[in-house]
Formats: sequence, C-alpha cells, structure tokens
Amino acid sequence: RNRAIGKAHSKLILIGEHAVVYGHPAIALPFPTLTVTCAIEEADSGIHLDSKLYSGPIDQIPKRLKGLAICIHKTIQEIGKHHNGLLLKIESMIPIGRGLGSSAAIAVAIVRSLFQYFNCELSDEKLRELVNIAEIYAHGNPSGIDMESVCCDEPIWFERGKGIASVAIRSSFYLVVADTGRAGDTRSAVGSIKHKLDKSPIQTKQSIDRIGQYTLDARNALIQGNLVQLGLLLNLAQTELEKLGVSDHGINHLVNIARNAGALGAKLTGGGRGGCIIALAENCVQAREISEQLNQNGAKRTWSFKVEETQ
Ligand code: MEV
Repeated sequence: RNRAIGKAHSKLILIGEHAVVYGHPAIALPFPTLTVTCAIEEADSGIHLDSKLYSGPIDQIPKRLKGLAICIHKTIQEIGKHHNGLLLKIESMIPIGRGLGSSAAIAVAIVRSLFQYFNCELSDEKLRELVNIAEIYAHGNPSGIDMESVCCDEPIWFERGKGIASVAIRSSFYLVVADTGRAGDTRSAVGSIKHKLDKSPIQTKQSIDRIGQYTLDARNALIQGNLVQLGLLLNLAQTELEKLGVSDHGINHLVNIARNAGALGAKLTGGGRGGCIIALAENCVQAREISEQLNQNGAKRTWSFKVEETQ
C-alpha cells in the first residue's frame, strides 16, 4: 500500500507581529523543536482525518476547521489523480493558538504529504497558494508570515505582498519561549486592532509605525551582533503591543519574570491575548536561569533554543 509523510515545523515571530498586517516588515524564525507530521494511507472510500483536533470524514469537519477541508479538496483537485479513499493522520507537537503557527504548519504538512503520496512535484509557489486557502479561513486577514516562516528553514525578513528576504545574524543568541497555557485567537486579536484603528486612528497608527521602525532597527542590531540593543527593541515593541491591546495580564507577568531573571528583552510572540512570550538570552546559562524562573512562576511550559549566526 502506498504511504507518504509530510512534515513542517513551527515558527516564532521575533519582532513585527500585527504591524506586519499593515505592510511593515517582521522578522520570523523557524522553531524546529516543535513539528507536525501528516501521514497518508489508502482508505476504502472518502477522505478521512485522524487528529487530536478532529477524527472522521472531512465532509463532516467542524466549521472552525473547514479551511483544512477546503485546502485538502483543492490540493487533490490540483494534483488531478484518481484515488479510492485516503486517511490523513496528523500528529502535532505544536500547541494550538499559541502564536507558534500551528494552523499554517498543519496545512503545510498536509499539502506536502498529498503531493508526495501522488508522486507529484510541489513548487514553493503552489505550496503557498494552497496553504493560504486554509490560512485565510483560519485567520481572516493573514499577512502570510506564518505560512512563510513554517515553510522556511532560515530566519526571514517578511513584508506583506513583497515576499521574503534573508536576515543576517552576526552573533548567536538564545531564545526562551514560555507558554501562558492559554490559547489566544489571532483572528480576533487582528480584528481588535482594526477596530482600534477605526476608533482612534492617530494613536493606533503611531504604535503600528513604531513597531515597524523597531523591526528595522532590530535587523541592524542583528547584523551588528548587538544583543543588548536587540533586547531593548523587543521591550519597546512589547510596550506598543500592550498599547494596541493584544498583550494581557498573563503575558505581562511572564515578560516581567523573564526580564527580572536577566533576559535582555522579552515580549509576546504571534497574535497575543494568551499564547507565548519569547525572552532573549546571551548564553545558555542565562537561558536556563530565565526558563527556571518562568517555570516556577506560572509558565505552563518553556522551551529554550539557540539561534545560530548566519554564514
Ligand atoms: C500571527 O502569527 C502574526 C500576526 O501578525 C498576524 C498575521 O501577520 O497574519 C498577528
């Protein structure tokens, strides 16, 4: 029997989330610790999903996951080959709604596995086109950064509609990721900023523009290997995200714990309103101290990982 496996990893936004929806740049990193796989097997008839989110025929998928069903149908239609029935088994280590790109990663793993199953070549362009169908459904107005960063194995500089560029990193650093344990809803967080823009346009635009400027400055700090400056910029971005209303008490608490534990900077990552924070550390000893403090003071889980310098 034919079998295929498609994979994708999660992502972290270093800086620029939310402002990226309005055309500013953002920097994202692959987060290879957390992955998702989709394994496909032949089934007797119909298309079935087996996952923690939902198991059963995709024609009866719950509304909130409808984007995945549409993405699967479109992908099979695009491939244009006959099948009797398919079973898609999804295994994901990526917690949902934590700003780690779980929805985009699941869609990427699905599209990759389907092309592999039918022995068809998948171009980068086609992958993005198909995954975007699921993302639009899940997020309403996605900038595309989640999709790009779960597809790429390198840090990326992303601008909506302009695609990606590489980011030069002069000196390696550590990031500690801490989960608040609460799922955030990216769609409603993005919607709330849109609402704020309509209500108080001047202040809201100012915060968005500032985040854009901090992102440009962060790229320079990375090029120069100036981690202290990078940390300050992460903190400044967090201040603006708070003003925009996408931070919350739980996030602020963990951000403060991380800073007091010696982080060079700390902020939410992804959509916010729950989800995860990231904290910047110079070395692994510092990262371990930050992660211990976070674990002892309310984080549901933490992960530390090293971001290597680029060649
Ligand atoms: C979500 O990971 C990032 C946001 O900027 C939304 C988007 O860019 O689509 C909050």
